[in-house]
This record gives sequence, C-alpha cells and structure tokens, in this order.
Amino acid sequence: MEKNLIVEWVLGASGKYEIDLAESGIQYHYLRDFKIGRGCNLNYSSDAGSPELREKISKLYRVKKENVLITNGSQEAMYILLNVLLREGDEVVIISPGWQQYEEVAKKIGAKIKKLFLDPKEDFQLNPSDLKKLISKKTKAVIINSPHNPTGLKFDIKKIKTIIPKGVFLINDEVYLLNPNESVTYNCEDKNFISVGSLSKIQGVPGIRIGWMIGLKSIVDEAINYRRYTTISNSALGEDIALEIFKDYSKYLKEYHNLVSRGFHTLKKWVEEQKGIKLIKPHGTPFALIKYKFNIPSKDLCEQILNKEKVLLVPGSSFGTENCFRISFGRDPEILNKGLRKISRFFGNINENSDSK
Ligand SMILES: Cc1ncc(COP(=O)(O)O)c(C=O)c1O
Repeated sequence: MEKNLIVEWVLGASGKYEIDLAESGIQYHYLRDFKIGRGCNLNYSSDAGSPELREKISKLYRVKKENVLITNGSQEAMYILLNVLLREGDEVVIISPGWQQYEEVAKKIGAKIKKLFLDPKEDFQLNPSDLKKLISKKTKAVIINSPHNPTGLKFDIKKIKTIIPKGVFLINDEVYLLNPNESVTYNCEDKNFISVGSLSKIQGVPGIRIGWMIGLKSIVDEAINYRRYTTISNSALGEDIALEIFKDYSKYLKEYHNLVSRGFHTLKKWVEEQKGIKLIKPHGTPFALIKYKFNIPSKDLCEQILNKEKVLLVPGSSFGTENCFRISFGRDPEILNKGLRKISRFFGNINENSDSK
C-alpha cells in the first residue's frame, strides 16, 4: 500500500507544534466530561455493536436496526465495506482531492480506480454529469465524501443519486455530516446507497472510536461476519460514552454550532486581511481549504509554518492537490486567534520578500 500521506504528515510533525489547526474535528473532549461510572462492563460488546446504539442510530436515520452496524470509527466501516463489496477487476469511481483510504484499500483488493478531478480553478465544484461519465459496466461503486475533506463542500446528493445506475453502489463517507436527514441512507433501507459516519468530528470524541455503517441488511450482515475476523466488536467503554452522547445529542450539536460559527467568522475576517490567499467557503465543516498564490509547494509551505511558527496545518498535497492548505477553525477562540496571528506573521514575511524582488 502507498504511504498514508496525512498520517505521515501529522505524525511527522509530532512534538514540533504548539497550535494544532490540522485535526479536522472540533476541539476534543476529555473522559472527565462524561459521567461514565466504574460499573461499566468490560466484556466484549456485540459483533454488530451495542443494541441500544444501533437502535439510537437507526431512529436518527429512519432505518431499521438491522441496517446499522456499529464500528471502530467510520474508517473501519469503510474498510470492511470495501472488502465485502469489491472483487478484483471491479471499477470504483472516486473524487480527487480526497481521503486516501478509499483508493488504497480498493487497489489492495484489486479494483481499478477511476478518479474525478475537481478543478481548483473552479473552486473544486463537482458536476454530477462528470461523475456519470466515469461510470461503466464494470463499475461496482461510486464513493463520495460529502461534506468533503479537504474542501468542506457539500455535493448535490439528490442529483448524484439520480445518476447512479441500478446495480452500482453509491457510498457516502458522512463523517462530517451534521444532519442525518441529509444522509444518502436517510429513510432508505432497500437501495444500493450506503453511508458511513462517526462521533469523531462533530461530537469531538475521535478517541472512543465509535462509528457506523448504514445500508442494505444483506451487506450489513456480511460486514458483521467480516468484522468477526478483525476487531470482533467495539470497545464497551467507547460504546457507553457514545450512548451518553446520544442521550444529550442536542447539547453536542449546539456546542459544535457555537464553536464552528464563531471560528468561521474569525477565519473569514482574517483571510480578508491577508494578501495572496483565498478561502473556499465550507458548508458546515470545522475546517476550510485555503488557496494561495505563493510560488511554493504546499508541503514546503506548511513545513515552514510549522518550523517557524509552530502551527500545524495540512498541505493540499496530503489530499492530492496543490497550492492550498487545510485549516481547522472549530477551536477555542484564543487558540485560533493565536494561530492565525502566527500565520499572518509568516505570510507577511513572504509578501515582503516577494514585493522587494
Ligand atoms: C473523510 C474522512 N473519512 C474518515 C475519517 C476517519 O474518521 P473516523 O474517526 O470516524 O474513523 C476521516 C478522519 O479525518 C476523514 O476525514
């Protein structure tokens, strides 16, 4: 498998930064934020996930409990799903720039990748008819990620659903989706639409590793069998924390809205004050993609900001694109403002140098 660029970048930066504007979720929580007691049962959980969690998620997405599998994050859901669905020689349509997992796992199985490249000059807009052109008789699945990492854009799911031929699976990685009623699988239990999601990004608990897959019962059943050979079940501790979150779900959504709307306001104002950069306006994600005009590869730019200012960003190159970086703004205002001031200082120096040439 190719090296995982984003993990390599983040781990390589370990110990070098003071301000993390790279993690794509909101500021994470601590165990002390939860009531979870010492009575938590540490037996294996069920292979399909705790029945109460399946029930909660099935209600939110208006599907049956049998259509839901609880997994170790959305990443495990996608991994199992691709292994269950794909065979050697199948074609898979994906979007670039994007999350590297889909391509690498599908290739490992022997599937052929077809990529739709979103054009930076058009601010990465996705035209569903371009996606349609890549679908052939051999296509097994179209994988999208809406809201999208790294652009923060939501794609036109309703339109995309209409261009998917019978027999082709449409998979949406919905790890950044806020409202279940916008899911490809909302109220839909008998079509070839599959979603994966988790509590990592919006609820701020990536460390409990709780995610899910929603789809046809036959696929969920195969996935349950597959996971018996991998992680067996989720951590019982993680599932109990997840249940606590679902009991007070609206509190977490409110917290997310507050952090993200305040952070976005700060970021937008900051971008307006800078020279040579442009914000791609995100659709509700806690991060945004920023295009720049400086003549420097994105990895070098982010490396220099890391070394000089001790602020961690993510270079566009980690997602297969250039002349841009991803910045997270769902942060404590003081931390965000401090990070932005440091980046301004860095940009100020670049602009001064290029003005004086
Ligand atoms: C698009 C995308 N999918 C999946 C993941 C993995 O998330 P999880 O913690 O739910 O496994 C991430 C994490 O950054 C992501 O950005």
